[in-house]
Amino acid sequence: MRIGRTLPPAASPISIQDILKGIISLSNPGKPLMAFRQSISNYFGVKYSFLLSSGKAAISVSLKALSKLLPNRRRVIVPAFNCYSVPSAIINAGFDVYPCDIDPYTLQIQKESLLKALSNTDDVLAIIPAHLFGLPAPIPWIYQISSKAGIPVIEDAAQAMGSSYNGKLLGTQADIGIFSLSRGKAFSTGEGGIIITSRDDIGETIEQIQKSIPSPSLMWSAKLLLKNIATAMMINPQLFWLPKSIPALKLGETIFNSNFEILKLGDLQAALASKWKNRLQKLLCERSIRNRYYSRYLNGIEGVVQITSLFNLTDFTGIRYPLLLADNNNARKILQISHKSGLGITSSYPDILNHIKELNVSSEIQCKNALTVPGRLITLPSHPFVTCQDMENIVMAIRSVVEG
Ligand SMILES: Cc1ncc(COP(=O)(O)O)c(C=O)c1O
Repeated sequence: MRIGRTLPPAASPISIQDILKGIISLSNPGKPLMAFRQSISNYFGVKYSFLLSSGKAAISVSLKALSKLLPNRRRVIVPAFNCYSVPSAIINAGFDVYPCDIDPYTLQIQKESLLKALSNTDDVLAIIPAHLFGLPAPIPWIYQISSKAGIPVIEDAAQAMGSSYNGKLLGTQADIGIFSLSRGKAFSTGEGGIIITSRDDIGETIEQIQKSIPSPSLMWSAKLLLKNIATAMMINPQLFWLPKSIPALKLGETIFNSNFEILKLGDLQAALASKWKNRLQKLLCERSIRNRYYSRYLNGIEGVVQITSLFNLTDFTGIRYPLLLADNNNARKILQISHKSGLGITSSYPDILNHIKELNVSSEIQCKNALTVPGRLITLPSHPFVTCQDMENIVMAIRSVVEG
């Protein structure tokens, strides 16, 4: 166990001040929620937005809505290297997960694999590409292929709220966009999820479904309030070693759990989002500065692929900076140094979705490229608590392992 300054891998701080302001604005019940919803629709330029208890809930509700429009379809196509929350949501909604192989250097769905998955389109309910870490998924070509086949695309921008690519906000290019407001995401209210769409048929169907979704109880909101206060204090690098050393908190663990509650977003969460656009913008700037530093000082090291350099990006505002190492052992060594020195470098998802038992993925679906990623991918922290000295230490740790 390490005692001492430890960087969290990701952070979207909510200050105690934000929490107090949130509590005060609760004196007008319903108002914070309405204001937040309206500003989300305006910001993303969409006709419909829905606020829910989590990103998982947003995916599950979106799929249920699509299933009302396209009955008897069960298969949901997703990249095989992905956050476990995505299959959790698909199973929660009652559908089947169909993993697709990826390009290991960009982490994006591979075209041939998608075309193969679509060789029979009759039972495909949706494709869910993900903007992992804020890396832009290739929505335009995916959308071109899917729309010809009449298959909707849900753009999973859970990790990419506020980031844009080619002048378009991520989450706005497909039939549905979803975002997560949980801890460590681009912007956080502790927990929360958003669905956006401009399609009337989808928007109206979700509106119907939403009528039967309960609001959080007072007890649920009180618990979240306490959790947010604890997070506001403990996310500070001087204290983060403490929650990190408590295994029961399962910090940073990737868990498959399809048995989660679906609630509307509560007034408290909406109140915590006051001035969210300014706060999000500030966070994007802070992350971009740190990501630029990594991009510059890790450039040209043999055996280290800077994934962001394979995209035509002017600015990477992602919540973590991903690096793919040529050698699994080097990745392991860097993670060990980080663990000892509290540098906040982490691995990513531990395995591909095909290997999650509960998904019952057929062994005939092979995702060979994706399989090479979990042991080689590391991510660097880019949040505002990362200082210049931290970045220097992180770069030095990586160079010391890779360059020997
Ligand atoms: C890519 C992706 N999709 C969906 C989700 C689900 O979001 P939430 O944690 O709010 O349920 C996450 C969260 O980790 C995610 O990373």
